[in-house]
Amino acid sequence: MIKPVYLDYNATTPIDPEVGKEMNLFIDSHYGNPSSSYAIGRLNKNAINFARKQVADLINANPDEIIFTSCATESNNLAILGVLKAQPGKHLITSAIEHPAVIEVCKHLESQGYEITYLPVDRTGRINLQDVEKAIRPDTALITIMHANNEVGTIQPITETAVIAKKHNIIFHTDAAQSAAKIETDVSKLGVGLLTVAGHKLYAPKGIGALYLKKGVNIKNIMYGASQEKGLRPGTENVIHIIALGKACEIAKRDFERNYKTMLLSRDRLIDGLKSKPNVEFEINGDLSNSLPNTISISFNGVDAHTLASLTGDEIYISTGSACHADSVEISPVLKAMDIDLKMATGTVRISTGRFTTNDEVDRAVEIITKTVIKLQTR
Ligand SMILES: Cc1ncc(COP(=O)(O)O)c(C=O)c1O
Repeated sequence: MIKPVYLDYNATTPIDPEVGKEMNLFIDSHYGNPSSSYAIGRLNKNAINFARKQVADLINANPDEIIFTSCATESNNLAILGVLKAQPGKHLITSAIEHPAVIEVCKHLESQGYEITYLPVDRTGRINLQDVEKAIRPDTALITIMHANNEVGTIQPITETAVIAKKHNIIFHTDAAQSAAKIETDVSKLGVGLLTVAGHKLYAPKGIGALYLKKGVNIKNIMYGASQEKGLRPGTENVIHIIALGKACEIAKRDFERNYKTMLLSRDRLIDGLKSKPNVEFEINGDLSNSLPNTISISFNGVDAHTLASLTGDEIYISTGSACHADSVEISPVLKAMDIDLKMATGTVRISTGRFTTNDEVDRAVEIITKTVIKLQTR
C-alpha cells in the first residue's frame, strides 16, 4: 500500500530525524535532573542553556529572554495572563481570527471583568492598522495579535502594529506558533515584547514550546512552584523536549532558504495542478502574496469539506475549515470573520505542505482531490 500523503503540516510536523537522534541520547543516558549539582545534573543544565541559545538564535533574541513552556497554548496563557497580573489596565486588544489558545484566554478574562476588543479582518484575513489605533484606550494593558494565521496563512502587519503599541506604551505579544521557521521571525524587526513559539510546528515533538520575553518587559508567574525558568515556569524541566526544540530551531535557521523554497514550490505546484483541471471549481482564501509559504485555504464550490476529507482520507491527510455537529455545520470563526460565504466555507479545506513534501506527493494529491471533487460537484 502507498503511504498516504501528509498535507497537514500546520496541524503538526513529524520530528526531524536529526532532532530524534539528539533526543535518543538523552533518553538513553543523560537522565539527570538539571537542578542537581553533580555531573549528570550539570550536563542537563548546560544542555538546556545550549537549547536556549539555539531557540534565541532562530528569532534573534538573547538566550536569557527565552522561557521554555509545554506548548504554544501555555506560552500564550503565560504571556497574556502574566502581563495582566503585572500591569494595571482592564482592556485588551486582539483579533477575531486568533487561535483558541488566545481567544479562550480572552473569554476567560471577560468573565473576570476585563474588556476585549476583537479587531475585525478584511477578506484576506488581515487586520487594519487604523482599527488598532482606534481601539486603544487609556486602560489598554496589552495587544496580542498572531503573526500568521493557522487556517489561511495570512501574515499580520506585526512590525507596524508594534510601532503603534510603542507609541502608546502598550505591551505587545504575538503568537508566532505558525510563523517561526516558516517565514522570517525576528523579534527585533517585529518589535514585539513577547512572542510564542510552538515546538511541534517546527519538527520538534509535541509538548514543548517557548515564550520570548523581551528584557525589561515585566510579567508575573501564573503557576507556583520552584524557581525553574526564573520562576515563570516552575517544575522540573522537560529536558528531552527542550533539547529537541533547540535542535529543531538550529535546523530551521540553518536550512531556512531551502525549506522556504520547498514549501513555496509545493504550495504553488498544488494550486497550479488544480487550476490545470478544467472541471474543478474552487477559490483560494486569503492573499497568497501575503501568506505563509506552505498554507492553502481552498473552497470547493458545491462540496462538503468533511465528505471530501473523509473520502480522500486513506490517501491524503488534510483538514477542514468547519466543524460538524449532530445536525448542523459550524464554519470556522476565521472564515466567518473573513466574510467567506457559508456555502464556500462549508467546502473549505486547509492544505499545508512542509519540508518533506515531494513533487510526487503533490501530484498524487492533485489527482486524488480532483477525482473526488468532480464526483461531489456533479452529484
Ligand atoms: C497559531 C496557533 N497558536 C497556538 C496553537 C496551539 O498550539 P499547541 O496546541 O501546541 O499549544 C496553534 C496550534 O495549532 C496555532 O496554530
